[in-house]
Amino acid sequence: MSSDLRQYLDCAATTPLAPEVQAEIQRVDREAWANPSSLHGFGLAAAEQLERSRQQIAAQLGCSGDLIFTSGGSESIHLALLGSAAELWDGQGSAPRLLLSAVEHPATEAAALQLQRQGWQLERIPVDRQGLIDLAVLESQLAPPTRLVSLIWGQSEVGTLQPMDLIGRLCRQAGVLLHVDAVQVAAQRPIDFDALPIDLLSVASHKLSGPRGVGALLIRDQVPVRPIQAGGGQERGIRAGTEPVPLIAGFAKALELLNIQRFQGAEDPLIERRDALLTGLLQLPGVELTGPDPRLDPEQRLANHISLLVASPQGVPLSGRSVVRAMSRLGYGISSGSACSSSKAAGSPILEAMGIAPERSSSGLRLSLGSWHRDADLAPVPIALREAIAAVMAD
Ligand SMILES: Cc1ncc(COP(=O)(O)O)c(C=O)c1O
Repeated sequence: MSSDLRQYLDCAATTPLAPEVQAEIQRVDREAWANPSSLHGFGLAAAEQLERSRQQIAAQLGCSGDLIFTSGGSESIHLALLGSAAELWDGQGSAPRLLLSAVEHPATEAAALQLQRQGWQLERIPVDRQGLIDLAVLESQLAPPTRLVSLIWGQSEVGTLQPMDLIGRLCRQAGVLLHVDAVQVAAQRPIDFDALPIDLLSVASHKLSGPRGVGALLIRDQVPVRPIQAGGGQERGIRAGTEPVPLIAGFAKALELLNIQRFQGAEDPLIERRDALLTGLLQLPGVELTGPDPRLDPEQRLANHISLLVASPQGVPLSGRSVVRAMSRLGYGISSGSACSSSKAAGSPILEAMGIAPERSSSGLRLSLGSWHRDADLAPVPIALREAIAAVMAD
C-alpha cells in the first residue's frame, strides 16, 4: 500500500491534513479542550477559541451573516434544505416546488427526497454534455410554485462549475431562495459569500486539507433556518451538539493556508499542472475527457479536477473500478466517479444525466490533484494509467 502523497490523486474525495493544521488542532486540544457552553474558565477558553475560529472562517469566506458549524457537507446540505423548507411551507395549502440539477451530490438528492415525502414538488433541471445546467429551463421553472433551489457549484465527479453568479441573480429576481453546495468549490477558488447572490452555502473542511468531521452552513442575514436536530441550543439554537472546538480551529487554519498559498497569486498554480497532466492522459488510446475542457475555459472546471472515460484502444468500455484497482496496485490513489458512488457497481447517474450511454457510464475515472503535486510527480501518471489499462484488458 502506497503512503506517498505524490501518488494520491483523489483530493475530491478527501485531503490529508496540512502539518500546520495538525499542529493547530493539537494546540487547541491542549489549551481549549473544554465544552464551550460551560460557564467556568475552562469552558470560557473554549468558547473564546470557538468564536475566534468562527470569525476567522467567516472572514476567509466573506460571510457577515450566520456561520453554523456542522459535521460536514452532508449535514450542512440537510440543514440548508430541510431547515429552510420548514420555514417556507407549513404543509398547508398548495405544494411548493424545489428545483435541483440532474447532477447533485447524493446528500442533496436524499434531502430533496425527504422534502418530496413531506409534499414538496421536486424538479430536476437537465444538464448538457458538459454537465452545465440548462439556464432556459431554470429560468422558466423559477415561476411559482418554486420556492427553493439547491445547486451543486462544482460537480464532484465531472468537475463542472455552474455559472453561480448568473444563476443567483436569476433566483433573486424571481424571489426564490438559493442554496449552493460549495463543498468542492471552496477548496478550489476563493469564496466571497457577501458578494454572491446566494442565500445558503454549504462547505466541508476535509476537502481543503482541514480535518474530517466538520463543516459549515453560511446563512445570509434574515434567511430563517429551523433546526433539524434539537438539543442543547448550541449554534444559536440552529444546530444542537457540543462543538468540536479543535477541529473547527483546524478548519480555520486550513482555510487561511489555502488563501495564502493558492489564491493570492494572479493564477492558481494547480491549473497549469492539471492541464499538462490532462494533455498527457488524453494521448492514451481509448481515454476521453468528460465534462468541460479546462484548456479551453478554466472557469468551467474545478482547478484540481480531471475526469475521464476509459475504453480499450478498440473502443470497448472498461470498468472504471477495475482500472482504479489496477492503479492502486501501482501505488496510485484515484477514483471511479465520486467516492460516494464508487463503492457501487452500477453506472454513474451523473454521466448518464450528461447523455453518456449507460454501457459507458461505469467507465468513469477521476483524478483530483493536491496543492503539493509538482510536474515531476504527475509526469509518470499517464504511463501508469497505460499500464493499468493494459492490466485490466489482460484480465
Ligand atoms: C459536492 C459535494 N457535496 C457534498 C459532499 C458531502 O460532504 P461530506 O462528505 O463532508 O458530508 C461531497 C463529498 O464528497 C461533495 O463532493
